Amino acid sequence: MGNDLFLRACRGRPVERLPVWMMRQAGRYLPEYRALRRRHDFLTLCKTPSLAAEVTLQPVELVGVDAAIIFADILLPLEAMGAELRFVKGDGPVFPQPVRSSEDAGRLRRPDVESSLGYVFEALRLVRRELAGRVPLIGFAGTPWTLAAYLVEGRGSKHFPHLLAWSHRDAAGLRALLARLAEVTVDYLRGQIDAGAQAIQLFDTWGGLLDPQRFRDVALPSLLAVIDGVGGAVPLIYYSNGTAHLLETLAELPVDVLSVDWRLPLDRVRRITGRRFALQGNLDPTALLTTPERIDAAVRRLIADGAGGPHVVNLGHGILPSTPVANARAFVAAAKAHGRRVESSVHARS
Ligand code: CP3
Repeated sequence: MGNDLFLRACRGRPVERLPVWMMRQAGRYLPEYRALRRRHDFLTLCKTPSLAAEVTLQPVELVGVDAAIIFADILLPLEAMGAELRFVKGDGPVFPQPVRSSEDAGRLRRPDVESSLGYVFEALRLVRRELAGRVPLIGFAGTPWTLAAYLVEGRGSKHFPHLLAWSHRDAAGLRALLARLAEVTVDYLRGQIDAGAQAIQLFDTWGGLLDPQRFRDVALPSLLAVIDGVGGAVPLIYYSNGTAHLLETLAELPVDVLSVDWRLPLDRVRRITGRRFALQGNLDPTALLTTPERIDAAVRRLIADGAGGPHVVNLGHGILPSTPVANARAFVAAAKAHGRRVESSVHARS
């Protein structure tokens, strides 16, 4: 029998032990990934299904996580919509022609996802075959708001002035762009599920930029459109960063799992959001830059914080490229050691 701890925990069902995986687990902290990257640029890795599949499997084999996440990037659908995308060394992703107005947005197309993003679907099929049920496979997308953050700004930013100014100046125009991003995202995620993704994570890395009122007004409608369009066939995880001020709104999202950053203790999240969700997270990724002993103690505390209900052990954001592989392994080992649960009563869902 394969290991389905992750899928059961997402659905709030009893588990003998808490599942563990790491956001950005397929990536630069692994020498095996860096070796492939020396020969191929990032987009080539994403677009070559055999290579993407190989990278997806690396952390399963090398670190022992309880779930795989498909190797791809949240920004790929924007390229499929016609926005030129480059990954510039040291600068991260760049859109040389940012979308700054409704007129710019009008030039984006609704792509046929099978022909423009079929390489991701093919990679998913390959990974499912290779995994043969060993662990579940997660698909993912960015939320419309977080996709727009990069598309409108043209690159990563601390303050996202173009995006936020647009949200003040012309909320309806920005909402229309987000609605179009939501349509493509639904097509893309349905394609991922058809190709074998067994859970979906929505990354809302920049959701916390908005105050509660504008979050509800600008970002939420397109987020709900994505959640609704994907449906309940597979567990849905919503990850956001810096959203302590939005918890009351997030508590109403029709998703299975809330994944939060490390600044929010899990017991507090549960008090505010209630018992409807499994929680995922949320160790500070910099804790993995210390020692196996400290990591063990931190994971023990984390699991105590999450003990009021279903919990998928993870980091609060992506693993840092400078993380020693031994420490990533120590994180996974600590979760497996401290995550054994005897009573299944804590998992009962109303
Ligand atoms: O989790 C995984 O291992 C699966 C693959 C994955 C990548 N990006 C690969 C990647 C996932 C789930 C993502 C999500 C993603 N991409 C997010 C949301 C999560 C988050 O970290 O906030 C965002 C905002 C992006 C956009 C993006 N892609 C940025 C800002 C960057 C540059 C900075 C960075 O972290 O590297 C990327 C590049 C990227 N995406 C790399 C990888 C492995 C590094 C590329 C390289 O090898 O040079």
